[in-house]
Amino acid sequence: MTSTIALFVLLAIITGTSAADPDLLQDICVADPTSAVKINGFACKDIATVNATDFFFDGLAKAGSTNNSMGSLVTAANVQKIPGLNTLGVSLSRIDYAPGGLNPPHTHPRATEIVFVLEGELDVGFITTTNTLFSKSIKKGEIFVFPRGLVHFQKNNGNVAAAVIAAFNSQLPGTQSIAATLFAATPPVPDNVLTKAFQVGTKEVEKIKTRLAPKK
Ligand SMILES: *[C@@H]1O[C@H](CO)[C@@H](O)[C@H](O)[C@H]1NC(C)=O
Ligand SMILES: *[C@@H]1O[C@H](CO)[C@@H](O)[C@H](O)[C@H]1NC(C)=O
Repeated sequence: MTSTIALFVLLAIITGTSAADPDLLQDICVADPTSAVKINGFACKDIATVNATDFFFDGLAKAGSTNNSMGSLVTAANVQKIPGLNTLGVSLSRIDYAPGGLNPPHTHPRATEIVFVLEGELDVGFITTTNTLFSKSIKKGEIFVFPRGLVHFQKNNGNVAAAVIAAFNSQLPGTQSIAATLFAATPPVPDNVLTKAFQVGTKEVEKIKTRLAPKK
């Protein structure tokens, strides 16, 4: 009995300390996306070929175009853009919002997110697993946190553009956008799954699928 409890505590400690990206085992491990070696993350490139460019990215300097159906654009600065981030367990994004723009409800399976408002005002929120919404209006200079894995969103209800910098405790947090995941998957999620889940008819489901279909 005591040993069962001890084992449980030990497991809790081990799993608890590995809840974010794994720790690095050397100074740097710059990603080599061309490597044939498939591991958790990316294989390291030869250190002789590493230079400062591997740790640099200027892609968040300017606002991205928000001329799309959501009126928002996420620009990621993760390990796919900055190979030097491999094994470091952090990344950033910039998100731009047109007036009325929405970053629709989504989750990051591998990271907690903390946003800092660069410009404008946003109505933001996350929903817990007991379906409680925690929401707030935030403005320039303010911060809000979206706990790992929880569904969250940001909406610009102002009449000027808004922008945030988002930080993540993962080199590649991953994004699952709820509506697109369910209504724009390939191959498609069967209509009879969606009609029952959402308690609506096939027509409504088909209408959403058409609207969310990836632009050709
Ligand atoms: C860094 O290495 C890349 C090739 O991996 C090269 O294209 C680039 O010019 C180098 N940059 C500097 C500052 O040496
Ligand atoms: C926005 O996108 C639409 C369709 O893609 C295009 O017709 C329109 O000119 C764009 N507007 C601006 C301001 O870029």
